[in-house]
Amino acid sequence: MKKIAVLASGNGSNLQAIIDAMEQGKIKGAEVKLVVSDKKDAYALKRAQQKNIATKTFLPAEFTSREDYDQAIVTYLQDMQIDLVVLAGFMRLLAPLFVAAFPNRIMNIHPSLLPAFPGACGVADALAYGVKVTGCTVHFVDEGMDTGPIILQESLPVYDHDTVESLQQRIHVLEHRLYPQAIALWVQGKIKLEGRRCLIDDN
Ligand code: GRF
Repeated sequence: MKKIAVLASGNGSNLQAIIDAMEQGKIKGAEVKLVVSDKKDAYALKRAQQKNIATKTFLPAEFTSREDYDQAIVTYLQDMQIDLVVLAGFMRLLAPLFVAAFPNRIMNIHPSLLPAFPGACGVADALAYGVKVTGCTVHFVDEGMDTGPIILQESLPVYDHDTVESLQQRIHVLEHRLYPQAIALWVQGKIKLEGRRCLIDDN
């Protein structure tokens, strides 16, 4: 059984989608062992508690540097023998030491078609730019901001009447399908990295 830790700062709807997919047998051979947050009132923590999943909060203010903070999380994850780290709305850039501790074992989901519109406001930036197509991306995490190898992407149209909220809502629907799918592929060992290309063995 692969052990997954989900890191989330907010609502945790992607966490919920992952838990639901596991309950529905769509991700076999893995369990969410732990949910970590940097915010003590993150709703993601409540979602985890409702499912009897262990939770842990690391408050940045209690650490002297980003490195100390990330090292504390890494040590905790290693102690729990976590195999895969899943970022689901975790609003912090990971320090290089974190990325090095879990090489190609950290995933993130981003609400745009990367490499377009990285950063914290992907949906608003895409809408303001005027693109006609956007979407979401699941990728491995490297040291950059939303720059790691792309695992899965899916697109959707942007309509003239779209607002940030309406677009975000449709992107969320995609995310909730795509993230469990990417995790399932990883658990089954079906993602092969060639350079920065993720090749999916879908047999
Ligand atoms: C998602 O839109 C994801 O793409 C971004 O943060 C958001 C998290 O939403 N990284 P939720 O907390 O999973 O509802």
